[in-house]
Amino acid sequence: MRMRKKLVAGNWKMHGSLAENAVLLAALKPALVGVNAVVCVPFPYLAQAQTILNGSSIAWGAQNLSEHNKGAFTGEVSASMLLDFGCSYVIVGHSERRSLYGESDGLVAAKYVAAQAAGLTPILCVGESLDERESGVTEAVVARQLDAVIKLAGVDSFAGAIVAYEPVWAIGTGKTASPEQAQAVHAFIRGKIAALDPDLAGQLIIQYGGSVKAANAAELMAQPDIDGGLIGGASLVADEFVAICQAAAK
Ligand code: 13P
Repeated sequence: MRMRKKLVAGNWKMHGSLAENAVLLAALKPALVGVNAVVCVPFPYLAQAQTILNGSSIAWGAQNLSEHNKGAFTGEVSASMLLDFGCSYVIVGHSERRSLYGESDGLVAAKYVAAQAAGLTPILCVGESLDERESGVTEAVVARQLDAVIKLAGVDSFAGAIVAYEPVWAIGTGKTASPEQAQAVHAFIRGKIAALDPDLAGQLIIQYGGSVKAANAAELMAQPDIDGGLIGGASLVADEFVAICQAAAK
């Protein structure tokens, strides 16, 4: 029996405007009543998400945070600031942060710790590049990314956290990992945590991300170790995001 309730999160990335968001959120709110869903919006729109989504079934969160609590860190945003705007979730270690902004495994782990210390649920992204997959080191890369967090925060820190497996080659490319490819890595992630704490591994929500859309969501969500999705492009289209959430809720 599955003990885990699937969760779908939208990662809007650097998209949206006050006007566009109002239209999108107004469409999502009634369509997702009773469904487990999250939208991770750009920082300036957190207040808008809070105002519109407060009291709805849709939670909201951010796409990044500082590893520091406060101080002279121009341009950074702390976990407590996210809490001020009612965030429940924050994405950490998205591949775009790792590859475009040089976030190391160690920095991602520090951000994960900062999020949890404040009471936010981190969505920890892991995943391999195309080169890494083709060189046969997918599991080694994912293990290294998880180990950085385990080393800093211990396996216990995965209680209540979320891991998102996002193969970099599938993000925004239209190339989805096949359900079997995704399932294999999800099973590897769960097995790695299970080697340290089987009960915790059984509860861990592991989302899949990378070109998920309404058309392929059902077969991905049917895999035994896929517990929801982290959705980029399709989270900006109300009908698509709703259909993905509904596929996950089945
Ligand atoms: P796409 O769904 O646009 O491929 O993006 C996936 C992603 O990076 C979500 O965090």
